[in-house]
Amino acid sequence: MYKEIDLDRIDTTGLPPENDPERQYFFLAKCREQVHGLEQKRGRKLRACVVNMGCQMNARDSEKLAGILEAIGYELTEDEASDFLIFNTCTVRDNANQKVYGRLGEANGYKRRNPGMMIALCGCMMQEEAVIQRLRKSYSFVDLIFGTHNLYKFAELLYAAYEADGMIIDIWKDTDKIVEDLPVQRKYPFKSGVNIMFGCNNFCSYCIVPYVRGRERSRRPEDILKEIRNLVADGVVEVMLLGQNVNSYGRNLDEPITFARLLQEVEKIEGLLRIRFMTSHPKDLSEELIEVMKRSSKICRHLHLPLQSGSTRILEQMNRRYTREQYEELALRIRREIPDIAITTDIIVGFPGETPEDLEETMDVVRRVKFDNAFTFIYSKRTGTPAAAMENQVPPEQVRQGFDRLLRLVQETARDQVSKHQGSVMSALMEEVNGNDPKLITGRLSNNTIVHVPGDASMIGKILPVSLDECHGFYYMGHIAE
Ligand code: 5AD
Ligand code: SF4
Repeated sequence: MYKEIDLDRIDTTGLPPENDPERQYFFLAKCREQVHGLEQKRGRKLRACVVNMGCQMNARDSEKLAGILEAIGYELTEDEASDFLIFNTCTVRDNANQKVYGRLGEANGYKRRNPGMMIALCGCMMQEEAVIQRLRKSYSFVDLIFGTHNLYKFAELLYAAYEADGMIIDIWKDTDKIVEDLPVQRKYPFKSGVNIMFGCNNFCSYCIVPYVRGRERSRRPEDILKEIRNLVADGVVEVMLLGQNVNSYGRNLDEPITFARLLQEVEKIEGLLRIRFMTSHPKDLSEELIEVMKRSSKICRHLHLPLQSGSTRILEQMNRRYTREQYEELALRIRREIPDIAITTDIIVGFPGETPEDLEETMDVVRRVKFDNAFTFIYSKRTGTPAAAMENQVPPEQVRQGFDRLLRLVQETARDQVSKHQGSVMSALMEEVNGNDPKLITGRLSNNTIVHVPGDASMIGKILPVSLDECHGFYYMGHIAE
């Protein structure tokens, strides 16, 4: 485990070791010398800011970046006008992508006022050739750019950036490498994401992820279990197992293992109280997983099961490999087997060729499955994906109207579902002081619903019984039940 490595004892005068993670420890020590030198020169501590712009996977990656920055001596801050600013980008939809350029413009302003400042970019958007070209041409003030496959090399790249005069760019097309035991700085002391796999092999026709995150690679179960045991020893009570498609976990390992089996092993870890996971692909969700969830006392009563569309014709075009009937049958079976479960979903509106009748089918599925929450997205054309080349793109006005109708329905269904528990007492993990009202603490139920209760910071990290007094759509107002 990284924590046991003492950077002071690393000899930084010789050549770097060939193998990782030792090579990265060497560069951590080198970077620390640099930061120390800069501190002396500027007569103050240096501050670093990590901005996460993407999904749970990105959030976990951002914790790894923060861990490295802290290990080499930066103070972490949320203030972007810092000494080292890194944007961990997302490119699933184009609007996320566009925001980055605006933020970079602002960052350039900070850099003019603090010429020693460094600006870095990483994450999914950096895996796109056109993005790199644009950055090279018009954003020469950026110091360091790397992608999704070589994040483990952050310390080494950072050292190169300290030494270099211009922009350092290092983007890999793919990798089969997984480097364990690097530093991580967790956002919450009591809960943590844990990567169980990287990449995706599904190639849904609208999705850029398989191109920017590469082929599916599973971590070895023993490495995952060791990480979770260490987290628990460090105060973590809830883990979220992360992968683009957790249901295909373990298939490509030398000793294959199913996701359901992995969950059973994680469940055995003493001191761990809650287990979550994300994301499930309906085509791979097994009977075995439903059984394991049903019997488990630790796996949370929440399943995120992206539908994307309720029209079999569109699902086929999307390359999702299930029909509307198969999805419904699966979701309703899960509801029968695990009655207290919350099912949430993702839906895309405006996929090429989608007609109002197709959308009606999607709405039918929403009515039948009664999602507890649904993330609705307007289809975004991603260069290089098969759907981007499809000719029958839907006119924006039709998409907008369909999207609004779907959103209204989804909100109604979610409110009906969430409010079912009004008046009951359920356990909530207390997560943070409410941002709007410091007299309230925000907790999360096993089924992922949020509840705000009067309280104080001493409750954070504890699982407490709460009375669910008043449902406000997606969340509750409540109080601690005695
Ligand atoms: N346009 C709109 N939404 C998309 N998603 C993935 N790719 C696209 C796209 N090109 C959505 C899917 C996925 C979620 C993470 O993002 O619904 O489940
Ligand atoms: Fe994208 Fe489909 Fe893979 Fe999810 S499963 S990341 S939607 S290709």
